[in-house]
Amino acid sequence: MAERLTKTGARNVFYGGSIFFFAIFVGLTAHSHYYIRTTSTDEKTLTDSVARGKHIWEKNSCINCHTILGEGAYFAPELGNVWKRYGGESDPDGARDTLKAWMAAQPSGIEGRRQMPQFHLSDEELNDLADFLDWTSRIKTQKWPPNEAG
Ligand code: HEC
Repeated sequence: MAERLTKTGARNVFYGGSIFFFAIFVGLTAHSHYYIRTTSTDEKTLTDSVARGKHIWEKNSCINCHTILGEGAYFAPELGNVWKRYGGESDPDGARDTLKAWMAAQPSGIEGRRQMPQFHLSDEELNDLADFLDWTSRIKTQKWPPNEAG
């Protein structure tokens, strides 16, 4: 073995290291994708209405004020677990009604409280939104958010 690191040796370390870590990166990416689809989300219950609800979420830019699973703006409450906060795990109909009542009552006009706009969503859109929030609440997030209030 050479006493010092030769130019060829350095190049081999560079290429070898790059290829090695690139392979690890590809492997972890594939694993994440597999894990998301098979373990952390429930693909069987991923219905059309859940997908439509996600589009309503995106079209109305709810994320400009809210976070969902930690992503978004920190002006308004986290909504990834709002379904659980509304008791949707034990009473899904009740949670649906609570969500509809909330959406209908905005803006609250209460002084000193942050305000949420009125979105004028139809009953069908509200049901899709509820399905989306219900489905999202069942994603395994490894205990995110750390408390119920989000
Ligand atoms: C301009 C900012 C803004 C946008 C955009 C916005 N919200 Fe809100 N939202 C708020 C604020 C502020 C609150 C908290 C109000 C309060 O506590 O009085 C809130 C609260 C809520 C709550 C109740 C949360 C809880 O824990 O009780 C729900 C549900 C909700 N928003 C849904 C939505 C949905 C769905 C959209 C998109 C269609 C949306 N919001 C878009 C500002 C916004």
